[in-house]
Amino acid sequence: MTDTPDTGPGPERALADAQRAHWQQTYTANPGMYGERPSAPAEYAAGVFAAAGAREVLELGAGHGRDALHFARAGFRVLAADFSPTGLEQLRATAADQGLADRLSVLAHDVRDPLPLPDASVDAVFAHMLLCMALSTGEIEALVAEVRRVLRPGGTLVHTVRHTGDAHYGAGTGHGDDIWEHGGFAVHFFPRELVDRLAEGWHLTDVHPFEEGELPRRLWRITQETPR
Ligand SMILES: C[S@@+](CC[C@H](N)C(=O)[O-])C[C@H]1O[C@@H](n2cnc3c(N)ncnc32)[C@H](O)[C@@H]1O
Repeated sequence: MTDTPDTGPGPERALADAQRAHWQQTYTANPGMYGERPSAPAEYAAGVFAAAGAREVLELGAGHGRDALHFARAGFRVLAADFSPTGLEQLRATAADQGLADRLSVLAHDVRDPLPLPDASVDAVFAHMLLCMALSTGEIEALVAEVRRVLRPGGTLVHTVRHTGDAHYGAGTGHGDDIWEHGGFAVHFFPRELVDRLAEGWHLTDVHPFEEGELPRRLWRITQETPR
């Protein structure tokens, strides 16, 4: 019998595992780091979701919850997922302080794994700067397939990604697959072709360029719906 050498996780998995530890440290050192106000994409998404008649929102990569709290205040039932238990604990505490705990649940989940939800069980999915984290193209494709699986027919996905026009694209340490690490944060910068490919079989209704923060980060806000 031949022993299989223990080579440990592959480079993709090792990078993402290191990023999880980095996000844990970041939220511990900077509680509430994104502030209390909702992001502009979340304000937009709340309007789109309400117009579509959505009642539940799944947020992926919710962090400490500036946007999940906005959706709950707007009357949606919210499931907020992130792989940082520290960020989620900050979110849970704020939701309790604001009297929103009955409308908002948190889920510690790594989006590299299948979503622990039944098929066609969610009205709307929101993800601000999550698909552009340290995920390979294959992991992003698998995640979008999972989002499609859990969305009801006619369900809406609003997500945002940093793109190849961002000042940090090509800066810092390159990990291949358009992933660049700068200041300890690894980002998968999206070419437009990837946005279009991820929307194949969906109705792509909007791709909106915008900026956020002081760098500024340059992003696309993408709206796509599953067929009815
Ligand atoms: C750029 S932050 C954005 C946080 C939040 N969406 C906001 O805008 O306030 C990205 C978030 O994604 C989470 N994240 C990164 N990779 C993840 C993964 N593989 N699974 C789940 N969450 C992840 C991080 O913990 C972090 O909270």
